[in-house]
Amino acid sequence: MLCQYQNNWFPVRDFQGVLSCQKNFQANETDIILATMPKAGTTWLKALTFSILNRHDLDESPLLTSTSHDLIPFLELDTYRDGQNPGLENIPSPRIFATHIPYRVLPDSIPGSKCKIIYICRNPLDQFVSHRFFLLKNRLQPEQDPLSLDEAFEMYCDGIHPFGPFWDHMAEYFQAGLENPDRVLFLKYEELKEDIVSSLKKMAGFIGVPFSVEEEKQGVVEEIARLCSMKNMKSLNVNKDGKWNGIIENSSFYRKGEVGDWKNHLTGSMADRVEKILEEKLSGSSGLTFKNYFN
Ligand code: A3P
Repeated sequence: MLCQYQNNWFPVRDFQGVLSCQKNFQANETDIILATMPKAGTTWLKALTFSILNRHDLDESPLLTSTSHDLIPFLELDTYRDGQNPGLENIPSPRIFATHIPYRVLPDSIPGSKCKIIYICRNPLDQFVSHRFFLLKNRLQPEQDPLSLDEAFEMYCDGIHPFGPFWDHMAEYFQAGLENPDRVLFLKYEELKEDIVSSLKKMAGFIGVPFSVEEEKQGVVEEIARLCSMKNMKSLNVNKDGKWNGIIENSSFYRKGEVGDWKNHLTGSMADRVEKILEEKLSGSSGLTFKNYFN
């Protein structure tokens, strides 16, 4: 079930956490915030960022025994879910948090401080399909029949989905990245898939810990890419078993991890519809386009 707040849609079960975070979170200059729409690649982004910052001993990486979500909490879904004062002051810097909160709903201290935001967005068609499988696997309201594909798609196109509308979510972070490139790094899932090494270098430079020539020679960047790859992460016991927050199967964060899987589930006219929505809604966001991924 969703509720609307400040022109965005939020899962009712997460809404208190959103409000509490918005009201209480105090960002530090050294914080790193990983912002995404659900199913845009959050789990991957968490693993990559954690590994960039903890690259001294990748053979013993905590990612081998803990999930990405255990290592980097969501502000609204974990940290502020149950309270207003989760005691974040003593976490050593840089603190890393994730969030699905739209840019305009963020706590003032995030845009107001010098902290860094890395945003990853994904072709909305793949994101929609990914979300659909995720919901079918994790029946959060088992007493209710899931929506049909057509019903869910209709709502998606109306912007009524968790943390949506998708077009505002991505356009606002995109704009923030254009205005403050030192503070907001805007990435696309598809670009990471295409060239993970360049993306890792970009991320490391952005958060102020670029890879040294020596590290590059030693293959550290490739090692991080391998550690965090879909194949490796999916094969780890910690990601095969157990549940996150007691309700979500850890394994459901890893499905196919492909670009263009929407073609196996949606029709060409559905794709045309989303393309038109994006053309209209993103017309003011020069440079943000997903055209290459629609056919
Ligand atoms: P698919 O359902 O298309 O396979 P999120 O982490 O935001 O919940 O997004 C989940 C999506 O990212 C899923 O997409 C999942 O398979 C994919 N994913 C998870 N880990 C990944 C990784 N290491 N590399 C690439 N894609 C990954």
